[in-house]
Amino acid sequence: MYSEKVMDHFMNPRNVGEIPDAQGVGQVGNPKCGDIMKMYLKIENGVIVDAKFKTFGCGAAVATSSMATEMIKGKTVEEALKITNKAVAEALGGLPPIKMHCSNLAEEAIKAAISDYFRKQGIPTDHLEDLACGRRCDDIHKAREDD
Ligand code: FES
Repeated sequence: MYSEKVMDHFMNPRNVGEIPDAQGVGQVGNPKCGDIMKMYLKIENGVIVDAKFKTFGCGAAVATSSMATEMIKGKTVEEALKITNKAVAEALGGLPPIKMHCSNLAEEAIKAAISDYFRKQGIPTDHLEDLACGRRCDDIHKAREDD
């Protein structure tokens, strides 16, 4: 059901942890399943020099977080913003269709962390606003209250 790469990144996830002095931190969640991903970015001169994550979620969410952090390291923030959940899933050799939604967390976490970085730099983030941490987190909390 899962590719070898998915299993590898699930069993041996890369870049797990926190970056205490991260320039961008983003947390997103899936209101339906309650899984949460938090991403930390160290950014120097517009280039992502380090990325770490913490994911409280399913195996596909862990594997896509791991792959996403590997894919964005060394990229500029503009390049990282172009990475889609589909690209992350493809880099893992694909995901079962029923688990594709799990890869959304990886794309959204990247965008939320970069959005946080932009805000801290005073750069307008209107185009990223719908992915900002606060709103996503509020959605999760609301979904939980509704249960
Ligand atoms: Fe929630 Fe996979 S089931 S992210």
